[in-house]
Amino acid sequence: MTKAVVLGAAGGIGQPLSLLLKTNPLITELGLYDIVNTPGVAADLSHIASPAKVSGYLPPDDGLKKTLRGADIVVIPAGVPRKPGMTRDDLFKINAGIVRDLAIAIAEVAPKALVLVISNPVNSTVPIVAEVFKKRGVFDPKRIFGVTTLDVVRASTFVAEIVKDTTIAPEVRVPVVGGHSGVTIIPLLSQSSHPLPASTDLKVLTNRIQFGGDEVVKAKDGAGSATLSMAYAGAEFTEKALRALKGEKGIVAPSFVHLSADSEGGKEVVKEIGTELAYFSAPVELGPNGVEKIFPLGKTTEYEKELIKAAIADLQDNISKGVGFIEQSKL
Ligand code: NAD
Ligand code: LMR
Repeated sequence: MTKAVVLGAAGGIGQPLSLLLKTNPLITELGLYDIVNTPGVAADLSHIASPAKVSGYLPPDDGLKKTLRGADIVVIPAGVPRKPGMTRDDLFKINAGIVRDLAIAIAEVAPKALVLVISNPVNSTVPIVAEVFKKRGVFDPKRIFGVTTLDVVRASTFVAEIVKDTTIAPEVRVPVVGGHSGVTIIPLLSQSSHPLPASTDLKVLTNRIQFGGDEVVKAKDGAGSATLSMAYAGAEFTEKALRALKGEKGIVAPSFVHLSADSEGGKEVVKEIGTELAYFSAPVELGPNGVEKIFPLGKTTEYEKELIKAAIADLQDNISKGVGFIEQSKL
């Protein structure tokens, strides 16, 4: 029996993500929570002929706690998305409080669940969840993940486009490390599973991966940011985490994690980046308890080393902002 929960399930990401999770045979129970429309989304999904039993709750009558009871994995796409001209950090004002309050409930009702944070700014919302859990005495760095899979999915897609063979897109592997905003998104294109043509302009490709989110925000023209590709990416990462929970070995994916989740691996990453950061997105092996191992970034080019250097200041600021927010919250 495996229960997955989506918090923010009626939103642009929440609905297609819940659909994809409903069709995942590894899930036997799917709990949906939002401040609006969840009963309708749950009723709709419940007619799909797949194993998961679906329930949908709203805030009244302890709906959040009812949704979370018995959860093995909690995915959080709750919060406001960007409009053109905004940075992800501009979302902090609203989303920090939303994520904090959801984390308080998770700490109380499902402290052992794996928590997958999608809500932006991920570089700050992950530390927010961690700090809430610390205050509640249930912090386990192995169980909290910032979902950066969309950056990896974009890198695979754009590399396949450059190689002029979109059929290979699902197999292309490019580690994308660092964080999830602008220059903190660091694609290690030198480690691409599919070599790029020598004529590739690495700066242009790197920039497209780093600012892929802006491309969608602009195209949506005020109607939000990536939802469908994010649902795809969120479902992919959730599926990996679920397979690992069930004991499958060797599942590796980049994720923004607290580097103490694997102290040896974390120290290695800190050495590579040359700065003591508490969080970094690195390739992570998933296991039955969450993070099993953090892998080093490996061999990087001079250009990639520069990208890493350029990301440090933003990462430090974003992480401190999340930590500071909970220090100032009366919990
Ligand atoms: P959306 O506005 O369409 O949906 C958000 C949902 O959250 C809404 O249904 C809203 O009712 C709900 N919500 C608000 N407050 C809540 C609360 N307290 N409890 C539960 N639910 C609550 O937005 P979206 O397009 O789905 O984006 C959601 C978030 O995901 C944004 O912050 C966006 O920036 C982020 N995002 C992250 C990535 C990533 O790669 N990590 C990618 C895309 C979007
Ligand atoms: C993305 O990368 O698409 C998301 O983080 C949403 C955004 O604001 O760009």
